[in-house]
Amino acid sequence: MNWKSWMLPGAIFIASGCKIQYPTEKIEYKVESQDVAEGKRLTMLVCGSCHYNFETKDFSGKRLEDSPKFIGKIYSANITQDPERGAGKYTPGELAYLIRTGVSRTGRLMPYMHRPNMADQDLDDIIAYLKSDDAAVKPSVRSAGKTKYTPAGRLGLSMMKPGEYRNHSIQKPKEDKVMLGKYLVDNLACYHCHSKSFASLDPLDPSRSKGYLGGGNKLRDASGKKIKSPNLTPHITGILNWTDAEFRRAITEGISKDNSVISYPMPLFPELTEDESSAIFAYLQTVPPIKRKR
Ligand code: HEC
Ligand code: HEC
Repeated sequence: MNWKSWMLPGAIFIASGCKIQYPTEKIEYKVESQDVAEGKRLTMLVCGSCHYNFETKDFSGKRLEDSPKFIGKIYSANITQDPERGAGKYTPGELAYLIRTGVSRTGRLMPYMHRPNMADQDLDDIIAYLKSDDAAVKPSVRSAGKTKYTPAGRLGLSMMKPGEYRNHSIQKPKEDKVMLGKYLVDNLACYHCHSKSFASLDPLDPSRSKGYLGGGNKLRDASGKKIKSPNLTPHITGILNWTDAEFRRAITEGISKDNSVISYPMPLFPELTEDESSAIFAYLQTVPPIKRKR
């Protein structure tokens, strides 16, 4: 995500004519794996922090409080099966296209959803879940609110490029612990918040993002206060002295090594299995250590 470009001075008044609409390709997509239970777990893990509404206990969306005000008011969409208010009109192909490129069925760019390296099996299970009869995706007419970008927000969006649809099969690295950890850090977007800036992420090859996993990205907590994301690299200013169990407790229960509470916008991932959290931890030990500046 290229947030820095949102700040380009002086350009705001030309923003109303910016291009944030893209042609969508109609792709053939066949859902092969249809493990709905696994799909629910993955949808909670990958999409839940933005789309799951804990009050209504479904995927009807909510206001994303941590987005900077100068971009606008951002509401995640209702992605239940209601055809008008929700994502009921989406075909499996359109969902796959959205997740792999960040472009909606009507051609709007949504860079938050861009997961170009998601394995076919995970994508299939998520799509199968969104089309299932589970209560949390049943048609809901609720509308969380309508996203309204400021001219600066529109300008920033117009400067981001949608991903290309790459029609090749991607396997999930299940056998190799470190590679599985890398896959999860990519698809759960840990590196988005925990690298230097949203402006210098590389979604195709996340490890090439600036300050990869070294923290320091400027975010906002629930009260709107500016905070910097912590360092997840194996450095003394990061997680060098952490144990696997401390790490799991942090990301599933929100309690840090020093017993302090880890708060918003850090999402919790209670659906991760012990093997998965341990794979993430193992992978983090292999990334280049970065010293975090205060
Ligand atoms: C970082 C937050 C975030 C994550 C993670 C996320 N989304 Fe979204 N999503 C949004 C926002 C914000 C919008 C609405 C954008 C707007 O209204 O312009 C949206 C919109 C959508 C839409 C509606 C598109 C349309 O046609 O209007 C669908 C469908 C969707 N998301 C599916 C998903 C799925 C499936 C996942 C998980 C694989 C996911 N999203 C992950 C933030 C997110
Ligand atoms: C939406 C942004 C965001 C995402 C996505 C995110 N984090 Fe965080 N994370 C944060 C923030 C902000 C904090 C600090 C919160 C605080 O200070 O209370 C944090 C804290 C942490 C901590 C505690 C560090 C410490 O020193 O106490 C760990 C560990 C962590 N995150 C790991 C992860 C992992 C692993 C993932 C992916 C599975 C992830 N995070 C995804 C924003 C994020």
